[in-house]
Amino acid sequence: MKVGLVDLPSQYLEIKDEINDAIHQVMVSAQFILGPTVSNLEEQIAEYSGAKYAVGVNSGTDALLLALVAHRFNPGDEIITSPFTFVATAEAIALAGLKPVFADIDPQTFNIDPEAIKRVITPRTRAIMPVDLFGQMADRTAIIEIAEQNGLELIWDAAQAIGGAFANKQLGEWTGSATLSFFPTKNLGGCGDGGMILTNSESIRDGLRKYRFHGSGGGYVYDRVGYCSRLDALQAAIIAVKLPHLESWNNARRRNADLYYSRLKSANVLLPFCDPRAHHIYHQYTVRSNHRDALKLHLKSRGVDTGIYYPLALHLQKAYESLDYKPGAFPHAENATQTVLSIPIHPGLTEEQVHYVADSICEFSP
Ligand SMILES: Cc1ncc(COP(=O)(O)O)c(C=O)c1O
Repeated sequence: MKVGLVDLPSQYLEIKDEINDAIHQVMVSAQFILGPTVSNLEEQIAEYSGAKYAVGVNSGTDALLLALVAHRFNPGDEIITSPFTFVATAEAIALAGLKPVFADIDPQTFNIDPEAIKRVITPRTRAIMPVDLFGQMADRTAIIEIAEQNGLELIWDAAQAIGGAFANKQLGEWTGSATLSFFPTKNLGGCGDGGMILTNSESIRDGLRKYRFHGSGGGYVYDRVGYCSRLDALQAAIIAVKLPHLESWNNARRRNADLYYSRLKSANVLLPFCDPRAHHIYHQYTVRSNHRDALKLHLKSRGVDTGIYYPLALHLQKAYESLDYKPGAFPHAENATQTVLSIPIHPGLTEEQVHYVADSICEFSP
């Protein structure tokens, strides 16, 4: 049996008529950049996430970059983040002229460890940028307390967590800004790049609207040096069609996860830990094994696709060598890179496929 990590063609076929119709409407309106389709989506996503405002941009990476830029930090200011994340998190900090400072992860949740954050705060620290990895929100309660005690801003990289919650509060209900990605394989994905920033601050919202549009409020007048980073209407129209399905897709992921938890209880892998306060939406279902590479090969031989997110921690990447971290600096992140394996969890899986993946894992002996 073949089991893929994602199945976007089937998702398209499920809602093909609605998508095609939405694309057609944008084509005949000929309003391709921003405009009412984008502002309607911004309102819908803000409402869905419990935020006052949402600002659509070109990608999840730009959402992070512009959220940082909108705070107008000074060059070289330090932003604390996780070394175990997609590169865009640290990349956005560096591109904004700021300094990424890493803090190790909690080995259970894979998210940044609040205690580790405390240890790397310096007089130059301006913000914390936690990542809601694999669809589980980082510990909002502990991190907000640290931010408040130290006068730090918060930018949550929620690219993988749309639809998630923590302590019964949605992404947009927390202090700070949260950034989203609509990369096609995300739980809510477009058919190209796209991203959004959620915020409850009117001034950050206004800043973002200018920064995404060359630093202009319109009329070829420019207050500041900006970016060209707008969400386009075709993406917004497609995402708006998908948004009403998101809850049921996330629930299907959670059902698949439940089935894995019950089937893999006694298998020779460590199952993902779910913080009881988190409503996990399983962007990834990531198991751990000391024989990860052999397990991956075994699953491949059974037709099961898997992914390694992520194989090398950011502090050990060549691109970030000027930060001068050494191997061993973040043992939990480094151990995760050697042991994690994400198995298929997408909402299009049949129960038979989930059982097949579970059977294939159970039969693995290193
Ligand atoms: C944690 C995280 N941050 C940022 C991004 C960047 O998003 P994008 O690919 O839309 O630029 C992604 C996804 O790709 C991500 O997974």
